[in-house]
This record gives sequence, structure tokens and C-alpha cells, in this order.
Amino acid sequence: MGIKHRLITTDEFPTWRTLVRRAFNGHVHPEDTERLRDDRAELDRLFAAFDDEQIVGTGGTDSHLLTLPGGSKVRAAGIAYVCTIATHRRRGVLNGTMTALLEQAREREEPAAALWASESAIYSRFGFGMGTIAEDWEIDSAFSRFAHGPETPGRVRFKTHEEALQLMPGVWERAASGRPGFVDRSESRWRYFFFDDERVRGDWSGLFHVAYEEDGEVQGYAAYRLMQVNPDEDDVLKMDVVECVTVTDAAHAALWRFLFDVDLVRGVTAHSRPPDDPVWWMLADPRQLERKLADGLWVRLLDPAKALSARTYSATDRLVIEVADSFLPDAGGTFVLDGSTEGADCKRTAESPDITLGASELGAIYLGGVRLSDLSRSGRVQEHTGGALRRLDRMFPADQAPWCPHHF
Ligand SMILES: CC(C)(COP(=O)(O)OP(=O)(O)OC[C@H]1O[C@@H](n2cnc3c(N)ncnc32)[C@H](O)[C@@H]1OP(=O)(O)O)[C@@H](O)C(=O)NCCC(=O)NCCS
Repeated sequence: MGIKHRLITTDEFPTWRTLVRRAFNGHVHPEDTERLRDDRAELDRLFAAFDDEQIVGTGGTDSHLLTLPGGSKVRAAGIAYVCTIATHRRRGVLNGTMTALLEQAREREEPAAALWASESAIYSRFGFGMGTIAEDWEIDSAFSRFAHGPETPGRVRFKTHEEALQLMPGVWERAASGRPGFVDRSESRWRYFFFDDERVRGDWSGLFHVAYEEDGEVQGYAAYRLMQVNPDEDDVLKMDVVECVTVTDAAHAALWRFLFDVDLVRGVTAHSRPPDDPVWWMLADPRQLERKLADGLWVRLLDPAKALSARTYSATDRLVIEVADSFLPDAGGTFVLDGSTEGADCKRTAESPDITLGASELGAIYLGGVRLSDLSRSGRVQEHTGGALRRLDRMFPADQAPWCPHHF
């Protein structure tokens, strides 16, 4: 009998959860299964692949709103919980799971889908492209002096976990309205992602929270953990910055200065920072900041006409774009895009294309952080009308590099 994909029932949720954890080489604590069910997962968006009665693959979706260049938001299916059990790998289970997830998203008229990839070789074939670039940082605090930076008239203050959970969403919302790539976080998802128990943090300390306040207003926050570097020396620590989100340059400068200056901490790491983060430009000795590039949020358009109409463009132009979509052929086709800084209109057309690109390439440029001409130089785009690439390069970039600090 073949593999069948369908939504799971409530009763199947604990088994489904166990398999997801096992695929990522972890075990499940019953409380965490309840937390996931109550605070994060949407039960009507969780699929499994069944071999007879046995679950052999999983996948699910967190519904999200994704910020686009220009500040508008589009509904996006946040694909997560993807796995195939070890006994059933490389037999097309993920293919079926992805088909089920994307079909449901299209039924719900979500114009886009997005995900974080465990391995960067998996998702291009499903039409996802690298929509944001993320940087992992490491620096020795002793070499973190700033030579430049804005005035920081406000103050950094410690907050309790409860206080932080109250103030962080407001800062996040403001940041999300101006930065492509941000997704929304519901109140329960704040609870879920900042759950601070030994089970999730391992040998790291509990979270420390700080916020930058100016004129009575919170303009940024940071959450970090500490760990002893050497079990014999309890006063030599390293720091991991879990999240730092700000809405002003002053808040950004003050919080990073604070983080780099915490006494007794030698090394600081941070993850998924945006490539245009100004810390690099503020350091007296920028080379001390080790910056490791990685793929960030992978983006896929499910309804290109709707998705491309939802954002603004940095130059006024009209181009005909052919999208070759091998995984969802009917989502591809030829589209005419008429865009400007004010808005855009994109619809299907019978006109001949100025350019042909794949769904994965379209997903990569959608948030405005990747230049189509760079993808073209890597052999991934065909230009039919001379100059079309350059014109799209002028239209698509966002004012700020797209950044998604939310891992799901
Ligand atoms: C990644 C994973 C879900 C793949 O599942 P699977 O059922 O074996 O995948 P499929 O057999 O459906 O493969 C679909 C396609 O993806 C390719 N593929 C699958 N896993 C891949 C990998 N890790 N790297 C590169 N390609 C991969 C297959 O070769 C196949 O390509 P094809 O259609 O050109 O033949 C599975 O290996 C797994 O559970 N890994 C551990 C958990 C994990 O990393 N999940 C992803 C979270 S983002």
C-alpha cells in the first residue's frame, strides 16, 4: 500500500510530535508537547504521511504575516515541523508532505510561503529561494570598542522575564512595520519562543533581559544567556545574544555597547543578524567581528500576481516576467508587473516575456535583499529583452536588507 498524506487528528498529535523531535535527534517532554499544542501549533495545519497506520512523515504550517518592502504585510504559510522518519527517507515522503502543505496554503489564498531550512540543499526544488541572508557573529569583547556611533541619551535597564514579555511585542511590532522579512508573533508564540527552562537552554544560564528607554519609551530590547567557559573558573563567561531588536539607531548602539561590556564576559556570539547591521561600521577594529554568512528565511510565491502586487518597488517600471515553476506548474506562467514606490499591479499576461526565471529565483528576490543580476551570473535567469535584468535590479531592492529574527 502507498503512502497517504492527511491532516492529523488531536489524538495523533502526541505521536506526531514525538516523531518530529526524533527526526531532529531529540526527545519529547510531555509538557513540551502540551506547550506546542497550546501556544504555537495550529492543529488544522498539521499533516502526516501514513504508511498503513504508522506516521512516517510530518509537516505543518504556522500562519504568519510577512512584512514586504514598503511596509505592507502579506499572509504567508510558515512551513515547519518537516521530517521523514529514518526508515522511510528518500522515497518521496517529503515531496508528498510539501504538496499537501502548499496545496492547503493555496486553498487558504496565502500568496507566499516561507521556512527555515535545516540544510540549504533541500528546498530550491520546491520553489523556495533564499529571501534573507543571516549572519552569525562572534567577537572577543576585549576588542569591541566602538569608534563611531550615535548619541545615546537614553538608559539601558534590566527587566524581569515577565516585564520583558510585556514590552518586547511593542518593539517587535514597530520594527516589523519597517523591515521586510519580519513576521508577526502572537502573544502565545511569544510565550512559546521565550520559554526559559533547563530543558530548552541546556548548560546556558536562564535569560537576562535588558531594554533601552528614552523619554519614557522603550526603543529596543536584548535577551541573552551566559555560560562558564571553563568549569574550573566561575568568573570567565561567554555570552549568547538570543535576540536584539531595536527601533532607533540610539537603542541599537546602546544595547550592543551594553552587551559587549558585561563584566567577566570574554566572547559574545549572536545569530541571524541582518547583513546591513551597523555594528560592523561602529567598531574601531571591525575585523574582530567574525561574520559568518548563512541562508536565512526561504521564501516561495504561491500566487505571484497577488504577492508581487502587494509590495512597493524602488523604481517605476513595467516588465513582463515568465516564472518557470516545476513543482507547482500552474502557479507559474507569464506576468506583467507594473510597479513604483507607491504600489504595484501584477497580473497574468499573454505578452512575450522580457525575462524568464524560476520560482526559487523569484522567491529569493521578493523581499528585496538579493540582486537578480547576481543570480543571473550564476546561470539561473534568462534575459530576453536587453536591459531587463538591470531594470529589475533597480526595481526590487528594499531600503533595508530583509531580516527575519524569528526562527520557526
Ligand atoms: C529532509 C527530509 C525531510 C527529507 O525527506 P525525504 O522523505 O527523504 O525526502 P524525499 O524522498 O521526498 O525527497 C524529495 C527530494 O528532496 C531531495 N532531498 C531530500 N533530502 C535532502 C537533503 N537532505 N539534501 C538534499 N536533497 C534532499 C531528494 O533527493 C528528492 O529529490 P528529487 O525529487 O530530485 O529526487 C528528511 O531527510 C529528514 O527528516 N531529515 C531530518 C529532519 C530535517 O532536516 N527536516 C527538515 C527541516 S527544515
